[in-house]
Amino acid sequence: MVYNRCGTSGIKLPAISLGLWHNFGGVDIFENCREMLRKAFDAGITHFDLANNYGPPPGSAEETFGKILKQDFVAYRDEMIISTKAGYYMWPGPYGEWGSRKNLISSLNQSLKRMQIEYVDIFYSHRPDPETPMEETMSALDHAVRQGKALYAGISNYSAAQAKKAITILNELGTSCLIHQPRYSMFERWVEGGLLDVLEKDGVGCIAFSPLAQGLLTNRYLKGIPEDSRAAKAHGFLKRESITDAQISKIQKLNAIAENRGQSLAQMALAWVLKDPRITSVLIGASSTAQLDDNLKTLQNLKFSADELKKIETIIA
Ligand SMILES: NC(=O)c1ccc[n+]([C@@H]2O[C@H](COP(=O)([O-])OP(=O)(O)OC[C@H]3O[C@@H](n4cnc5c(N)ncnc54)[C@H](OP(=O)(O)O)[C@@H]3O)[C@@H](O)[C@H]2O)c1
Repeated sequence: MVYNRCGTSGIKLPAISLGLWHNFGGVDIFENCREMLRKAFDAGITHFDLANNYGPPPGSAEETFGKILKQDFVAYRDEMIISTKAGYYMWPGPYGEWGSRKNLISSLNQSLKRMQIEYVDIFYSHRPDPETPMEETMSALDHAVRQGKALYAGISNYSAAQAKKAITILNELGTSCLIHQPRYSMFERWVEGGLLDVLEKDGVGCIAFSPLAQGLLTNRYLKGIPEDSRAAKAHGFLKRESITDAQISKIQKLNAIAENRGQSLAQMALAWVLKDPRITSVLIGASSTAQLDDNLKTLQNLKFSADELKKIETIIA
């Protein structure tokens, strides 16, 4: 495994981290979840990313993780970076989502119970809240850190301007922002328009979520929609109808470049995100240990020639 420093902090994260958004819920097969977590940790993936609402049902991914942690990883807690988040809809009423201190603190308490742990390593504001003063949201993160229920604070889905403001407030409070978690892949490049510059300037790390565009940037959909894929599942966030012919054509062209590099498309897509030194880690999902094996091999070839980058650019621009 390659470990990259997270911004200018003391923390290093694995170049590949594992997220439990899909495939670790109450609807999924427990033994498969367990095998994936064991395989990941054995391969040096020390960072596992969760959120209050991951499942389905919401909360069940944290419960699954907590059970497996207890069974297999108790002795290794200090070798792991566990993150969770609050901000998206979790429970009914006015306090079950967004960025109030009430929601963030109570949600973190619930997450710790579900995972059966005393603290998380990173606690995120999952999304900016247009109605709550950012000072309140950031002070809740600062409070969680001061309480020892989180070691570091993070933000997710904040625009460049929102991130700048959040980072400044956190600095004033004395709890610096460790990391930002935005969506970033060959198919989703908004972070290149200013966010990465802000993070670099302020010494904040960046972990890119959905670097495989939920599986589109793999061999999964080259020949239709497999029945066991995210796009075929009723509860998946990738919708069948969102996979267009234009996208499939791009995927096929990208796949040909990956083949020439001697890589799978998934490996090339991950290497492409990691080529920017401001990216600390790619936060992948997986539904099998075979996918994990495939993705881990990314680290064998992270370099691109100028010609390859140019060809890729003409496809994804
Ligand atoms: N902060 C946020 O708002 C936010 C939002 C979304 C995600 N996240 C985080 O990011 C993590 C990753 O998101 P994601 O699951 O969308 O990431 P992703 O890596 O873009 O997609 C993962 C999916 O791609 C497929 N896949 C992975 N490796 C493959 C391979 N080698 N070959 C073929 N298919 C492969 C699998 O699809 P199948 O399941 O179809 O096999 C897998 O479930 C989440 O778990 C979560 O921690 C954060």
